[in-house]
Amino acid sequence: MTSAEWKELQKGMKEKWPQPKYITDNPEPERSHTSYRDETYELITRWMSETKIEYRPHAKAPGTKSHVRYEKYAMAKTVGEALELGSWPADWCWDYERGFIKVLGPVRTDPIDPVNCFDTTALTDVDRCIYRWSVKELAKKCGLSLQDLRDNTNTGESAIMRAHRLVSQRTAKAALLAAKKDGRCITDGELLKTLQEWGFARNPNRNNVMPDGRDWVWSDTLGLMRDRTGDIHLTKATTNYPEVTEIINKWLTDRLPAEAKGFKFTSLNLNKNYAARMHRDGNNFGPSMIAAFGGFQGGELNYWCEDNKEEGLDQLEGRPKESLKLGQGLALFNGNSAHSVEKFEGERYSVVYFTAGCHAKAPPEDRGSPPSGSSGCPTPRQTRSSSRSCGARADIPSRDAAPEPPAFRYWPRAALGQEMPPSSRRSSRTRS
Ligand SMILES: [Fe+2]
Repeated sequence: MTSAEWKELQKGMKEKWPQPKYITDNPEPERSHTSYRDETYELITRWMSETKIEYRPHAKAPGTKSHVRYEKYAMAKTVGEALELGSWPADWCWDYERGFIKVLGPVRTDPIDPVNCFDTTALTDVDRCIYRWSVKELAKKCGLSLQDLRDNTNTGESAIMRAHRLVSQRTAKAALLAAKKDGRCITDGELLKTLQEWGFARNPNRNNVMPDGRDWVWSDTLGLMRDRTGDIHLTKATTNYPEVTEIINKWLTDRLPAEAKGFKFTSLNLNKNYAARMHRDGNNFGPSMIAAFGGFQGGELNYWCEDNKEEGLDQLEGRPKESLKLGQGLALFNGNSAHSVEKFEGERYSVVYFTAGCHAKAPPEDRGSPPSGSSGCPTPRQTRSSSRSCGARADIPSRDAAPEPPAFRYWPRAALGQEMPPSSRRSSRTRS
């Protein structure tokens, strides 16, 4: 093919084979040629051997090595064939960003993750190639070594999840140092960034909170937890990423209201981007604290504070409930009474500070060394007492004749001396 013939063939091709919209809408001319967009990685890491693709004919100019290679691999009709014909994930990124490849599907819902594959013998050459490449790219992008990412034996984490968690840990460490140096509290922004970078696990076990139509939620527990074998200990993520645990704990302990200074907790429940359906928590001991972070609208905590578990959840639907704006406040409530999260739009993270019901059976080394920054394991007496002084009913029988406390407390975050725009300083709690 002569150069003139090639130029003739290119007429109208850019219109027929447009670049992805995220490239044309937001050109980044200063970006390195071998640094690809997040959207590109997000797509290419979900390709499979059988994913059907179509190459733009004769897209590369003759007289170059890349033309020779392209003419060969552009015959491929699937990703598996493209690999066999000599192209690699980096070629796929390059070609896709320039509009040279159309993807006809199917693609995976999520990137390949060999750590969580039940049968690694079923992995194809394309799966292995994409995974090895994506881990290297991720390490480079996050400023981590490959050894950092491989150091995940027995943690149940994929390399991708570990990369996110290491970055989150780095952020938390820097924020803790900065706060200490400046003699200030951990800010909402610092906690939000730590949560945004955290690699959440897909949790298929929280059936009681799963919204309709979902079979997993982004949800992790730090601190004490009972595992599937009944053993009670600090979760691996707690000890592997101590600064993440510490910054979350410190955010609360730095700003505990005076009447809640005695609040104790052993565990943290982290949730990302799901609206829990109405449920009662079964394994909590005493009251919990809860707050939410991120840019979201809606997402209030619905709380049936009068619920004493004598009725079915469906009977509570029309009953009066509290609606707590957790994005602007801190709430103390009894997780054993019915609660749910209102639908929301945007990015929403929530943190629940609670005491695991099983905590008294934890080994002494875990009870004696609570997650750094937490206020340690409470005794039943302490929990009753903190519940009363904080004003939330704990689900613990009390034999003395003290008056029943209110069922919950809500503190606007501004009242705790923290970041909140003046326009948000109106009452954030409504009764419905
Ligand atoms: Fe809950």
